This record gives sequence, C-alpha cells and structure tokens, in this order.
Amino acid sequence: MSKRKFELTLDYAKKMDQEDELKSFRDRFYVKEGQIFMDGNSLGLCSKDAENSLLNMLNVWKKEAINIWGTEDGKYLNYSEYLAGKIAPLLNADANEIAVVGSTTMNVHQAISTFYKPTKDRYKILVDDLNFPTDRYAVDSQIRLKGLKVEDALKVVKSKDGVMIDEDTVIDAMTDDVALVLLPSVLYRSSQLLDMKKITNAAKERGIYIGWDLCHSIGAISHDFKDIDPDFAIWCNYKYLSGGPGATAGLFINKKHFNKHAGLAGWFGNNDKTQFQLNHEFDQDKTAKGWQTGTPNLLSMAPIEGTLNMYKEAGMDKIRKKSLQITAYLMYLIDEKLSKYGFRVGNPREDEKRGGHVCLIHDDAYRINSALKNNGVIPDFREPNVIRLAPIALYTSYEDVYKLIEITEKIMENKEYENFTNERSVVV
Ligand SMILES: Cc1ncc(COP(=O)(O)O)c(C=O)c1O
Repeated sequence: MSKRKFELTLDYAKKMDQEDELKSFRDRFYVKEGQIFMDGNSLGLCSKDAENSLLNMLNVWKKEAINIWGTEDGKYLNYSEYLAGKIAPLLNADANEIAVVGSTTMNVHQAISTFYKPTKDRYKILVDDLNFPTDRYAVDSQIRLKGLKVEDALKVVKSKDGVMIDEDTVIDAMTDDVALVLLPSVLYRSSQLLDMKKITNAAKERGIYIGWDLCHSIGAISHDFKDIDPDFAIWCNYKYLSGGPGATAGLFINKKHFNKHAGLAGWFGNNDKTQFQLNHEFDQDKTAKGWQTGTPNLLSMAPIEGTLNMYKEAGMDKIRKKSLQITAYLMYLIDEKLSKYGFRVGNPREDEKRGGHVCLIHDDAYRINSALKNNGVIPDFREPNVIRLAPIALYTSYEDVYKLIEITEKIMENKEYENFTNERSVVV
C-alpha cells in the first residue's frame, strides 16, 4: 500500500505541478487546450520532438531520394539498430538484442514461430485468459500452422476473479508438456504488473521458453532484462512511448538465442556484409537484426526517435517515479471523493504490482465514460465495467488529475451520465 500523503485542494495539485521535476516536458507535447487526456496507454500524444523527427525523415528523403539508404553512415538503412540503441536503456538490454520491426501482433508470430518447436512430449503453449486478444489469435494460429489442435496444445491459466492473474497458478501450470509461455507484463485492463522475474525463473528451471508482451509496461515502468533474462519480448511503440498510430513495434531476442533460425525470415535479417549480394541462401545476422524482415518502415519509425530522445533526457527512473506518484494521487482522490458514488479502484495498490494506469470501476462505467468524453476528458472504457485512466509522466499534470475528479463528481451529482446510452459503439 502506498504511504504517500496527499491533500484534497486544487492549490495542492498546483503545488505538486510546481515541484514536478518533469514539468517542462508537457510543453513539448500537443496537449489540447481544455481537454484532459487520460488515454496515453492506448495512443500516446504527439510531441513536437516526434513531429520534428518525422519531418526530418521526410526532408532527408526529399533531399537524398534513393541515397537515403547510404546517407549519414547508413543510419536509415540500419534504422532499427539505431532506434534499438535508444530503447536498450528502457529494458536494460543490449542494443543488439532489440529489433524495431513489424507490429506487436506480427512480432508475436515471429517469436512463436522461432521458439515453438513442439515435440510429442512438450507441445503446449501456456497463456492467461486476460491478455489482449491479438496475442491469443497469433498463438492459436501458430499452433494450427504446426498441424496441431488448439484444444490440445493451448493451455490457458484462468483468472480466479476475471481481474488479476495469480502468479503461483501460472507457475503450477508449467507442467512437463509445456514448451513455451507467453504473458503480458502489465494486464491491459486491471493494470496488474506480474512478477516477471519470479515467473521467468520458474519457466527457466523447467526448461520452458518464456516471452513477455510489454505493450503496457514499456515506457511506463523500468525493466531490468539483464536480471529477468527472458527468452523474448514484444511490444508496441505507440502507447507510453508516443511513437504515433501504428508505429513500428519492438522485438527482444535474448542474445543466447542468436543462433536460432528466425521463424519468419526476410532480407533485412541478412548479415549486412552479404545482404546486397542478393544470394538466395539466407545468411542470417547473428544478432536481433536477424529477426528483421523487409525494408524498414522509416515513416512509421521516425517519430519514435523524437520521443526516445525525450526518454533519454528525462530518464526512466524519474518517469516511473512520477507515474507512481501521480497514479497514487489519482487513487487517493478516487477514494476520498468518488467512492460515495459507487466507484472503486480496480488495480493493485502496491507500487511493485501496478503498471501506469488506474482502473476505475463502476456498474455504470460505460455511460460515465461517455459523459466524461462529453466534458472534455479522454479516458477509455474496457468491458465490462472499467474506465482506464492513464496520467502520463511526461505530459499529464496533477491539475489535470484534480480536474478529472471534479468533472466526474459533477457528472455523478447531476446524473448527466443518464443521458447516454449503454449500447456499445464500435471503437471505445
Ligand atoms: C497487450 C497488447 N498486445 C498487443 C496489442 C495490439 O497489437 P498491435 O500493436 O499489433 O495492434 C495491444 C493493444 O492495445 C495490447 O494491449
């Protein structure tokens, strides 16, 4: 439980903003006047830094045309490696263990097709039932590609309460027939942060490969992959990292696996020295580059450069520190001001067990979410009763959080949410 002490007034929120060591970053983001943006865990805000790195990329293309590939010592030809160098500190991994490539979903396919080699005795993939569904779709299709049946080869750890995953239940499910485990680091709905070290160790002790989906933790929490030592990880760069809608994603391949064949091979995974010889025999690079596939999507990668530079300036430790502080403040205000309207906090309270968003629960969450949007707040709704609120360390202020609570109180007092329908729209 957080030991932090807060106060209820607006002056206090303003004082917290004054004392915020990251406060200067807010001006570098396109924060809309009059809007309270709480959805950076879905799609992070655009920053001027990201805009500039994208414009720079366009300018290099304009100026250099096809010579873009050779300019600046091959920076753009090797742009995945260039960005990997900037992501490495966020994971405490070696830069050559990271590829910036594909989408999160495609990287699940890439990793599973690399690591999943079912045998008669070890043929199951272990997953949980609360992960974001795309991971499951990819896993199921990989099982089918091996000629196996999902009913036989997929093992699903069920959450006991539909909200959290019990780590010991996951470990107990690591039986001798399990070949591979894929789990989310932070659950997208409840914000639960799993003990990655404990679960990874348990998998290793049992000879099981393990990979993590970091979509809801990268850029929100500090990772220490030298210590955790997972086999692989995948993530998107568009949530906390604000790399832009559909930004090229990330893939971590532990260096002890550099000798493995990439499940999905392509010419950008070829060793630099022979790539342009265009031989028909794939000469796979012996780093994570070996898992790159086609020509890098420079325009979907460039914005990431700008935001990663900000991450370097700010430092991941300060980012996590503020994230913990501002989410604790939000939970405090929910407890103090919103519980009387039937709200409760649905995420774990302990710092080491929660990610970067707060999970606000209410029986009428869908309509309240709509009313919040109508009042200039951008949260998001997740079935069945969750409003996700993500104050982002680099651009959300304590005053934003204060006002969010004030608006929610107003909506509940005047029952404004009753004017909205419970019928679900296509994108929420
Ligand atoms: C845990 C997790 N994995 C994957 C995705 C999405 O995958 P992709 O980036 O391929 O759309 C999301 C999207 O919110 C997610 O929360």
